[in-house]
Amino acid sequence: MSVSDLFKPLSLMHGPAMRNRFMMAPLTNQQSGVDGIASEFDQDWIEQLAQGGYALIQTCATTVEAGGIAFARQLGIHHDDHLPGLSGMASAIRAGGGLSAVQLHHAGHRANPRLGGIPAPASGSTLPGIRALTTEQVERIRDSFIAAARRAELAGFDGVAVHGAFGWILSEFMSPYLNERTDKYGGSIENRSRLTIEVIEGIRRACGPDFQIGWRLSVERYGLRLEELREVTAEIMTRELIDYLDLALWDSAQVVAEGVFRGKSMLSVFTSLDRRGVRLGAAGKIMSAQRATQLLDEGCDFVLIGRAGILQRDFPLQVLANPRYDSPALPVTADYLRRGGLSERFITHMRGWPAFVHPDSV
Ligand SMILES: Cc1cc2nc3c(=O)[nH]c(=O)nc-3n(C[C@H](O)[C@H](O)[C@H](O)COP(=O)(O)O)c2cc1C
Repeated sequence: MSVSDLFKPLSLMHGPAMRNRFMMAPLTNQQSGVDGIASEFDQDWIEQLAQGGYALIQTCATTVEAGGIAFARQLGIHHDDHLPGLSGMASAIRAGGGLSAVQLHHAGHRANPRLGGIPAPASGSTLPGIRALTTEQVERIRDSFIAAARRAELAGFDGVAVHGAFGWILSEFMSPYLNERTDKYGGSIENRSRLTIEVIEGIRRACGPDFQIGWRLSVERYGLRLEELREVTAEIMTRELIDYLDLALWDSAQVVAEGVFRGKSMLSVFTSLDRRGVRLGAAGKIMSAQRATQLLDEGCDFVLIGRAGILQRDFPLQVLANPRYDSPALPVTADYLRRGGLSERFITHMRGWPAFVHPDSV
């Protein structure tokens, strides 16, 4: 494949096609109002991305319940009061010619009580003194994901991306280590994946025929088992329950360290599945035109751009203009980010990421 292949359109099972192979990864940036209402900073950031040439832009992780919050100033979609701000974001993305998705998030046992979060563990043994969610509470959270997707549709988003990664609630339920439940949501992998599948199926039923559903999956930590996740992914693909799978790898070149797939690239464990109509993309250190192109060769339909898109808002346009484009070396100065248009809130957030903002820069 060549760099020009990154600019070929990609149809999705529902709704409009992606105009190219670049998707903006979800990026928490802690700049919303304390009530989760989108701020002028959220709007400004999205407007910058909207003009950047991406085929699809995901929002940051967005709370489906007030109690599911993980981060200060996290964007919310759990109340109708969030609709006007979200509509502004959706309109800006559409005006730039891209598709849009809200990333739906509930922090599960990692909800932060200092921010009004209510830790919601799958198991009673995860957090001292906090009981496992009852079956009814699990169903309520499932329904909150579905209600949030409806709100995303009302706000004018093309779809949602269901956050099933990084130990947050859906990933937590998938893990045999964090999920010791004995009800229909625990035990076998079929039961542990039930919450994810019910969320996805519920969204499909509640939203219109053009509404797009993505699912983000990670395989590292939290006691997750790669073989099981592959099985669940195979089922989701076979049943064509989603439009796209977003594989959240911290390094898209990651090699499997143990188990039956030891020595294989993590990506190949998933690209080797029969994906039917489902599209597959990966995130993780995609910082150059060359690496993005390689991932198409490795079987991805599209790529997700994270940090490279913070460094350069219009990464796809940069690649279009220069097939040898490479991101600036890290760390960068705060002033570099400021000049690019990043707000002080976002820069403060980025100071928390290792080796991103130069520690001496003010
Ligand atoms: C500042 C920052 C915020 C992030 N926020 C989210 C998030 O809200 N939801 C999520 O699923 N992943 C989040 N991630 C992970 C990214 O979406 C992406 O998967 C990861 O950074 C790897 O891609 P990259 O190497 O291109 O940055 C975040 C990453 C960064 C750097």
